[in-house]
Amino acid sequence: MSIKNASIHGQWSSRWGFMLAAIGSAVGLGNIWRFPYLVGENGGGIFVLVYLACVLLVGIPIMIAEILLGRRGRQNPVNTMQSLANQESLSRHWGLLGWMGVGAGFIIVSYYSVIAGWTLAYIFRVGAGVFVDADVLVAKQVFVTLISDPEKLLAWHTIFIMLAVIVIARGVEKGLENTVKILMPMLFFLLLLMVAYAMSTEKFFEGLHYLFIPNQEHLANKDFFSDILLPALGQAFFSLSIGMGAIMAYGSYLSNKTSIVFSCFTIAIADTVVALLAGIAIFPIVFTYGLEPASGPGLIFMTLPIAFGQMPFGTFFGCLFFILLLFAAWTSAISLLEPAVAWAVENCNISRIKATAWVGILAWLFGLLTVLSLNHWAFSFQFAGVVKENGLFDLFDIVASNFLLPLGGLLIAVFAGWFMRKQSTLAELDIGNGWVYQCWYFAIRYIAPLGLLIIFLNAVGLF
Ligand code: TRP
Repeated sequence: MSIKNASIHGQWSSRWGFMLAAIGSAVGLGNIWRFPYLVGENGGGIFVLVYLACVLLVGIPIMIAEILLGRRGRQNPVNTMQSLANQESLSRHWGLLGWMGVGAGFIIVSYYSVIAGWTLAYIFRVGAGVFVDADVLVAKQVFVTLISDPEKLLAWHTIFIMLAVIVIARGVEKGLENTVKILMPMLFFLLLLMVAYAMSTEKFFEGLHYLFIPNQEHLANKDFFSDILLPALGQAFFSLSIGMGAIMAYGSYLSNKTSIVFSCFTIAIADTVVALLAGIAIFPIVFTYGLEPASGPGLIFMTLPIAFGQMPFGTFFGCLFFILLLFAAWTSAISLLEPAVAWAVENCNISRIKATAWVGILAWLFGLLTVLSLNHWAFSFQFAGVVKENGLFDLFDIVASNFLLPLGGLLIAVFAGWFMRKQSTLAELDIGNGWVYQCWYFAIRYIAPLGLLIIFLNAVGLF
């Protein structure tokens, strides 16, 4: 097979193989941990509305472009960008886009793995019945005790990186399909169960209201651009796994027969539904128990265990929930490291196992910074009108998701919309020149780049 049609890492066995892996990448801590806490910090219903607009107008078009580039280039993001630039007679410096993605992947994985470590720890806390009939004070106490213990965090972080490394070393197409096929639907049903519990709480409608109805009051003292739009956009990139080459790498293992556009809508819808369900499950608990919506990254760890402590068979369901969340995080972390591993395999002439080991060690080392930033090295600063208390951890998260990912997205949009010949994108998408293509082409040429540019210029303080 020529390099044009197949990747050296193998191919997904079917359209579903790719779709499941991509959904596995998209659905993760971003939906269940990050989305609710950002909604709580950045204005409730308004944030949700802006987020949905970002997914539709910027996220989906860029996801289509990113997969398209990956499938056309058939290599890791660095080489893919170089070889596509070559095909279109452009500068090889487009490879830098791939490098930026590899770097962003390391930064994200470094703290992602620590949060996944919290999830691991909670499997055992909930399983041991720590939260049976617990109140808010107990829930807060358990959380604070965990994050102030660097040794425990380090142990969980190490275990999680090892889990990720094991699957990546075997090759993503072998490790992922079955995991996602079975566990994602289970996670989905457990979320429905939690929503059912939320319905039984006193303040269910207050929670719904907070989540879905934009409220002027939540805008007070907030700047629309920097406090709502920028974090909502960052969350759209983070949650859809776009802007850093993860989905590009997955796209490079995709067969030419699969419809990219159809896949992207499916992935985005699944991802959004999970995030909204998590929000519906969490905010009624927040209000019923008098928690602060803006409680920061600990929000789900301080709310959901209370619910498990109250519901029948809560210990069982709680345990199961955190196990499933762990798997969701696992399938996401794998995609964050895949571009780096694929790069090492294709360029350093080493085996996949060796490449994975090196990448794993690097990611583990980076993670130490997050572990310490939660306790010994904690410092606080202000961003988007919110006081961030976890120093480097918050800083990494903000830099990666609000700046590196959207910047990667901007470059992807500009490359696909302005630098690639139209015939190339037409041929690769293979949906003809009808309205679907036209809508995408307009979004990728104008809406996404202009939107991103305006947000960036605002973020650096130009207006
Ligand atoms: N989307 C994942 C989540 O929501 C995280 C993730 C996986 C990611 N791969 C990514 C984020 C690539 C940005 C880029 O948990």
